[in-house]
Amino acid sequence: MEKVVSGIRPTGNLHLGNYFGAVKSFVKMQDNYDCLFFVADWHSLTTHPKPEDIRRSAKTVMAEYLACGIDPSKASIYVQSDVKEVLELYLYFNMNAYLGELERVTSFKEKVRKQPDNVNAGLLTYPTLMAADILMHKADKVPVGKDQEQNMEMARLFARRFNRIYGVEYFKEPESFHFSDKAVKIPGLDGSGKMGKSEGNCIYLCDDEKTITKKVMKAVTDQGPTEPNQPKPEVIQNLFTIMEVVSTKDTLDYFNDKWNTCEIRYGDMKKQLASDICALLSPIRERILDVSADDAFLEKVAREGAERARESAAKTIREVREIIGFKS
Ligand code: TYM
Repeated sequence: MEKVVSGIRPTGNLHLGNYFGAVKSFVKMQDNYDCLFFVADWHSLTTHPKPEDIRRSAKTVMAEYLACGIDPSKASIYVQSDVKEVLELYLYFNMNAYLGELERVTSFKEKVRKQPDNVNAGLLTYPTLMAADILMHKADKVPVGKDQEQNMEMARLFARRFNRIYGVEYFKEPESFHFSDKAVKIPGLDGSGKMGKSEGNCIYLCDDEKTITKKVMKAVTDQGPTEPNQPKPEVIQNLFTIMEVVSTKDTLDYFNDKWNTCEIRYGDMKKQLASDICALLSPIRERILDVSADDAFLEKVAREGAERARESAAKTIREVREIIGFKS
């Protein structure tokens, strides 16, 4: 059976971008693949979170994974820092990763621009840790959103390079996976690029109906179309992009027609969008509340997931040590 590995950084609650970029695929894949989903708590250290926030956020993401429908009897869920073998592979990949190529990664360059006072080595080597997460388990497929494409390229590069340096065919090159036929990028509601925690423009899976409606009704729009069939400006396209994933095709077609005939009323569109998001998230929010209250269950899932992940990781490390020339 093909293997699937993916993770999310625990930096607060999951949002619609995480859901459509990653978690929806996790749930879809668990029936047909051998899946390992983790909470990427080491990756979150680049911003120096407080110890209590690390503990709380890891638990939050675990609970939200389960509430979205990941079934621990089908897929393993673990916390990255419970599988120490990953750090050893991270070290080996770092020895084969070059400063120039790491400095050219777009998300690194963005961080250098946005947080010039905290350009740490962990940020620079973020793609090697991610490659270690994935290649550790010899993943065939990795469900991720569009923003992770470059990190996926790097993971494939590190796999090829390791094989070339040691003259082996050991690591396979993992593919990205998307629940529809193309990579997903969920935009924010503020008219600025993607939905993201640091952008402060998110609809969270745990938001209640009032909060969701308020956020959607406040979404940035424009004066409306002046000519039939004109292309949509970015802020309007953003609303349609979200509608494409949360609403039915009929609803989407209806508002597209209204746009094309210049009859669109943004208030009506936003009301419909808010109602469709609420319908999707209400049952998830209720399950988040239930699962979060069950510490014993969360601990059991994390313990069993870590055991499984460690088993697969230990095998890889044994083999990699041998390939590199260390005694096992
Ligand atoms: P992170 O924590 O930023 O995001 C987790 C997942 O959510 C997706 N995502 C989005 N997709 C579409 N539209 C959006 N607006 C949006 N925002 C977030 C991301 O693409 C991602 O799939 N480096 C990773 C975590 C990671 C990882 C891994 C992933 C660490 N190791 C190994 C896969 C495999 C990250 O920072 O994702």
